Amino acid sequence: MKKIEVSAPGKLMLFGEHAVVYGYPCIVTAVGQRMRVRIEKTENDILEIEAPDVGVRNYTRKIKSLGEKTDIPKGVVFLNMAVKNFFEKYKVESGLKIETKSEFSAEFGFGSSSSVTVATIKGLSELFKIKLKNKQLFDLAYKTVLEVQGVGSGFDLAAAIWGGILLFVAGGRKIIPLKIKNLPLVVGYTGVKADTPFLVRKVAQLRQSYPSLVEGIFSYIGFTVEEAKKNLLKGDWQKTGQLMNLNQGLLEALGVNTKRLSDLIFAALEAGAYGAKLSGAGGGDCMVALVSQKERKKIAQAIEKAGGKYLEVKPNTEGVRLE
Ligand code: PMV
Repeated sequence: MKKIEVSAPGKLMLFGEHAVVYGYPCIVTAVGQRMRVRIEKTENDILEIEAPDVGVRNYTRKIKSLGEKTDIPKGVVFLNMAVKNFFEKYKVESGLKIETKSEFSAEFGFGSSSSVTVATIKGLSELFKIKLKNKQLFDLAYKTVLEVQGVGSGFDLAAAIWGGILLFVAGGRKIIPLKIKNLPLVVGYTGVKADTPFLVRKVAQLRQSYPSLVEGIFSYIGFTVEEAKKNLLKGDWQKTGQLMNLNQGLLEALGVNTKRLSDLIFAALEAGAYGAKLSGAGGGDCMVALVSQKERKKIAQAIEKAGGKYLEVKPNTEGVRLE
C-alpha cells in the first residue's frame, strides 16, 4: 500500500476541564466535524506537507532532519512530531507526502492538533502495516502532544481515537465510553481563540498561591463530573443542565471565564437552555448549552444576537477511521 486517507473527529469538552489535568475525571464528546489526513509513501527522502487550512503550502524537509530543532510553521508542528515519533518507535522510514484538510477552523478549539496527530499516526500504522491498539495509538499521540505543548490531559486525543462520549482520566488512565443517545447541544463560538497552555499555567499559578482552596474547587468539579455522568446516562437533561451551571461557576472561580463567554452563556440560559458553560480551557473558544429540541432555534438565535457564532455540531460521533 502506498497511499491512505484517515479521518479523526474534533471534540468538545462537556464537563471537568482543568481539574482533569490534576487527576480528576472529565467528560468529552467527539463532534461531527472531522480532520482528514492523506498520506502517500514517496521514493525520495523528503517529508512534504500541504496543510492549506493552516496556511502551510509546499512545506518540505529531509526525513533525516526530523529530530533536529528547526523553525517549523506553527500549523504543522504536531504533524512533524507525530511522523518523527512514529518512525523512531517502529524503526521505519520513508519519504512521505501528507495533505491535511479540516472540516472546522483551527480557531474553534475543536482540537485540530489532537485530531491531526491521531489521524497521522493511525495512517502511518496502516501504511507500514503495524497493528496498533487504540491505547498504543493514544500513548504515542500523547507523547507527541506533550513534547510539543508540555501540558495537557490527552482528553482530546481520546475523543479523536475512540469517538462517542467518554469519561476520561488524565493520561488515559480511564477511558470509558458512555452510552448516551442524541445529546441536544447548541454550541456558540466567541470569535476569540483560546490559548490553552497559557490558561493551564494560569490555573497552576492560582493553585500554587492557594493550594487547598484550588484543590477544593477541583474536587467539586470532580463531583460535578460524577453526577453529570449519572444524569447523562439517564437522559435527565434538566439535571445535566443544572450541573453544567455548577461546573461553570467553578470554572469562573478558577478565573478562566470571560465576559464574552458569559454573554453567550447568559443569552442561552435566558432563551431557555437547561444549562450552559464554557468548553475547554476558557479565555475564548466555544460555549455549550444543553437545550430542548423545541427551543434549539431560539437559543441559537439568542447566541448570535449576543455576538456569538452559532456552530452546527453533531456530538457523539465516530472515532478515527480509514476513509
Ligand atoms: O482548550 P481545549 O479545548 O484544548 O481544552 C483544554 C482542557 C484543559 O482541561 C484545560 C486542559 C487539558 O488538556 O485537559
